[in-house]
Amino acid sequence: MPADPESLRRARQSLEALRSAGIEWVPRAVAQPPVNRPAPSVKPPTPEPPPATPTMPRPAATTNPVTPDQRRIRLQELAEVVSRCARCPELCSTRTQTVFGVGPIDVELCCIGEAPGADEDAQGEPFVGKAGQLLNDILKASGFARSEVYICNILKCRPPGNRTPKPEESDNCREYLHEQLALVRPKFMVAWGGTAAQNLLKVTTPIGKLRGQLHEFQGIPLLVTYHPAYLLPHRNPAMKKEVWKDMQLLVKKMGRSLPESSRKYASES
Ligand code: URA
Repeated sequence: MPADPESLRRARQSLEALRSAGIEWVPRAVAQPPVNRPAPSVKPPTPEPPPATPTMPRPAATTNPVTPDQRRIRLQELAEVVSRCARCPELCSTRTQTVFGVGPIDVELCCIGEAPGADEDAQGEPFVGKAGQLLNDILKASGFARSEVYICNILKCRPPGNRTPKPEESDNCREYLHEQLALVRPKFMVAWGGTAAQNLLKVTTPIGKLRGQLHEFQGIPLLVTYHPAYLLPHRNPAMKKEVWKDMQLLVKKMGRSLPESSRKYASES
């Protein structure tokens, strides 16, 4: 008798969870004849195999993407792999679409947030909602146009209700993010908010202790600062001045200068 759709869905979800935990295969069910009774003559149903593991295909031309063109092609392939990702059963069943990242490669600056919100899930681009508008303003005041910066998130899917990403979800997405950053090759990075900072640095230190200095991610200088959503008017706008201090530090370390319009707001330090 064929399994009902709900049992199939649950079986698939359990298998996905096992695979997220690193279990690549499970033994096929073998029917055990009940004691003292003849074995049934019909074959018992076997569980549905889980959907294909999202692999990262590497066509010959981009086996070791090095040139800018090869890296752009590979980035596009990676975005396509991510768009079919089914590693997190909850996220892939609630997302509208994946939100991979936006911007050119070989950038001076890469911004990394936590995860897409409702606006990003709807539009397929990171930081396009209220927090994104504030991010654009912070970048502009620091002398960067959004179009010259690469922007992405730790997670490529929106967590329902904008909850904080679960550790296993960040683990599932890490491979994508690391390859993405290796292809983009930013010279400097900013982690916006504690989740992004802690994931990149593999620490649990609170953001208040991580900000205000440069760290390193795989040899790339990394600034940590507060998330723009945390600075919105209904939350902690007073902390904007701390972000401004952090951005001034970054601009200095990058050997750049602030735009004329921002200089009057630069702190004395
Ligand atoms: N918050 C994030 O961390 N990332 C986005 O893309 C939007 C909001």
